[in-house]
Amino acid sequence: MTLTPTKDDKFSFGLWTIGYNGGDPFGGPTRPALDVVHGVEKLAELGAYGLTFHDDDLFAFGSSDAERQTQIDRLKGALADTGIVVPMVTTNLFSAPVFKDGGFTSNDRDVRRFAIRKVMRNVDLAAELGAKTYVMWGGREGAEYDSAKDIQAALSRYREAVNLLGDYVTDKGYDIRFAIEPKPNEPRGDILLPTLGHALAFIETLERPELVGLNPETGHEQMAGLNFTAGIAQALYHGKLFHIDLNGQRGIKYDQDLVFGHGDLHNAFSLVDLLEHGAPGGGQAYTGPRHFDYKPSRTEDETGVWDSAAANMRTYLLLKERAQAFRADPEVQEALAAAKVDELATPTLNEGESYDDLLADRSAFEDFDANAYFGGKGFGFVRLQQLATEHLLGARG
Ligand code: GCO
Ligand code: MN
Ligand code: MN
Repeated sequence: MTLTPTKDDKFSFGLWTIGYNGGDPFGGPTRPALDVVHGVEKLAELGAYGLTFHDDDLFAFGSSDAERQTQIDRLKGALADTGIVVPMVTTNLFSAPVFKDGGFTSNDRDVRRFAIRKVMRNVDLAAELGAKTYVMWGGREGAEYDSAKDIQAALSRYREAVNLLGDYVTDKGYDIRFAIEPKPNEPRGDILLPTLGHALAFIETLERPELVGLNPETGHEQMAGLNFTAGIAQALYHGKLFHIDLNGQRGIKYDQDLVFGHGDLHNAFSLVDLLEHGAPGGGQAYTGPRHFDYKPSRTEDETGVWDSAAANMRTYLLLKERAQAFRADPEVQEALAAAKVDELATPTLNEGESYDDLLADRSAFEDFDANAYFGGKGFGFVRLQQLATEHLLGARG
């Protein structure tokens, strides 16, 4: 397999990722602003297929209609010239001071009305550009102080906003679904819908749950100490993996947004294995964009920006190759069988078997020697993990 990315790999990048100027809470920008046309051209050159953006990435907050249109036209020109597509669009409801207490869930009702209007305007643009996914990351939807936010009311307002947007895309006939992006904290002390599990539960309270899924981010689940691969598997189980933000994170700390694989490499390997081979029967479990939401470190110059963009794609392809070798290795297949990994797919009861039948089955209980069984043979999970490690390190096949 080739390690050169092509459009078939469906790699996409946020304009805010390659456009990150290096500013952080402790220091100003270390790089000049990136022009969108140059960004699209570079992504095409590197083998990406898609660009995503927040409204304010493309045209500054408060732009006049004419300034906004100029930027949209420049983007459209670059897309036409390069074949780059826009699979996802999102809204910035976090940078402008007006959103200091959130957008959909600000305590201030006028801000909430303004936030919904800002999203509706950008949903129209998303539809115009052919985006199929609209991400909602509520970075400012939250609080620092328990008495400052009525969480139950805030969730009701969140629901009101998402329901209204669901009505809007349905009435307009847009082929767009929403993807909620969970994050535990930062910039707020605590953010609403902090993990993908919280978001899954919230989605079921909506009027059109089928229109709303998840955009989980590697680092966000890992900031909460959670296993990203396991979370993605649960999102797939619920049919809610609408989009994905890939990056790297080293443990429970601030949102690092490192290059994919530059954090927990084992978890990145199991994630790629899941995405590429996790469908029932072994095919791709997720066929959507492989979207990178990372930040080129502020230590880098423009060359470093493009090197890091390429690194995300190359690491994904390397892991895909390693996962294929892992799956094809006869010793791995034997270790998987010995570990009974496939046996979990067999229902615990026979077809048509009732609890009365189970009660009548002496081999299940009366004659089952639980002590001997669990004192005896092991599962060999460690051997399996070492085989994965050896493949990951390129020591096998
Ligand atoms: C973050 C988030 C954002 C979102 C983006 C899309 O932690 O900063 O990941 O980058 O992905 O706002 O809505
Ligand atoms: Mn992030
Ligand atoms: Mn993200």
